[in-house]
Amino acid sequence: MELKTMLDVQKIRKDFPILNRKVNGKPLIYLDNAATSQTPKQVIDVIVDYYSNYNANIHRGVHALSQEATDAYEQARIKIQKHFNAKHSYEIIYTSGTTHGINLVASGFSSLLKKDDEIIVSALEHHSNIVPWQMLCERTGATLKVIPMNTNGELILSEYDTLLNTNTKLVFVNHISNALGTINPIETIIEKAHAVGAAVLVDGAQSCPHLKPDMQALDVDFYVCSAHKICGPTGVGMLYGKEEWLKKLPPYQGGGEMISEVSFEKTSYADLPHKFEAGTPNVCGGIAFGAALDYMNAIGFEAIAAYENELLEYATAQMLQIEDLKIYGPEASGAKNKTSVISFNVGNIHPYDIGTILDKMGIAVRTGHHCAQPIMDFYKIPGTVRASFMFYNTKEEIDTFIAGLKKAVLMLS
Ligand SMILES: Cc1ncc(COP(=O)(O)O)c(C=O)c1O
Repeated sequence: MELKTMLDVQKIRKDFPILNRKVNGKPLIYLDNAATSQTPKQVIDVIVDYYSNYNANIHRGVHALSQEATDAYEQARIKIQKHFNAKHSYEIIYTSGTTHGINLVASGFSSLLKKDDEIIVSALEHHSNIVPWQMLCERTGATLKVIPMNTNGELILSEYDTLLNTNTKLVFVNHISNALGTINPIETIIEKAHAVGAAVLVDGAQSCPHLKPDMQALDVDFYVCSAHKICGPTGVGMLYGKEEWLKKLPPYQGGGEMISEVSFEKTSYADLPHKFEAGTPNVCGGIAFGAALDYMNAIGFEAIAAYENELLEYATAQMLQIEDLKIYGPEASGAKNKTSVISFNVGNIHPYDIGTILDKMGIAVRTGHHCAQPIMDFYKIPGTVRASFMFYNTKEEIDTFIAGLKKAVLMLS
């Protein structure tokens, strides 16, 4: 099958120095993009420039370096706002990543929830979108309910309807499942939650690299993501929150930067977004996050999604030819309901063994439960092998991966 892509993938690959390295004497084939994406030199250059030329603490210095760093950091916030189409830049809170953003919201809701309130998560969540809500329920006496999934790895929306009621205060769902690649119908989920007066947090860790979610069009209350999934550095991410919600939530951490005035009797808090940004932030990370969005937008999200979908179809068709290979989640590729993640097992072979042999061939895939143990329990398996593709992967890499997989299966059968 010929790929119809409009992307100049060979040119793009030159932007990623790491793709030139060898692993175990073989050219690296990096198919663990859902865990973390690789970083282009355009973003690496921004990081080097920051530490070489204007590293300083921000928001509090009158000197030139501090002002340059502050300007770059705040301009990056505006880039993030524009990218996600938030109404105001102060609705973008810098975090250390998706997990931090979820915990910030969960902590804030401790004072807003009471016994008998209900919160809903989905069966497809990453642990970081389960554990903080369990902890919130323990603190408040609220009850956690779960939208179940079917064997095709999709949420059963008719069951969601039966869970929703006027006690429902919050709904948490990932946009795309990291374990299966399922794209959840978040538009419908948000609309139905709002109809009973519940707020919705969408975990966008897996959607931010592939789609360009529009906060205002979605009318979502909170959206969280991590820069390292989208060609940016680790240790930085963002929480989008609607102004009205961010005003209602108390601060997450106390410290410098998040205050207006402090005395030993009383402290008043800073305005948004600083109310939620205590302490010295990851200044370089924020600026590099902005640079990563610039890089991705220059390629274009439509072209990225179309190409990744072609890679997904190409790989899926070949994998389904392998005897005893089972793909978990939506098998039918197509940008509509699945992104470029293939989670699979072959017969009774342990996923870890396949991953180890592939690594010897320079091929990086993920093995295990992917921080989504409830999904593995649902399928009654210990884990899966997960291959996940980004726009810098190629058809040739997929051919090598499939050949390597066939060899591994032969060795392990
Ligand atoms: C769906 C989903 N949610 C949350 C997370 C946690 O992201 P982070 O570790 O960057 O906080 C991940 C990471 O893989 C994820 O895939």
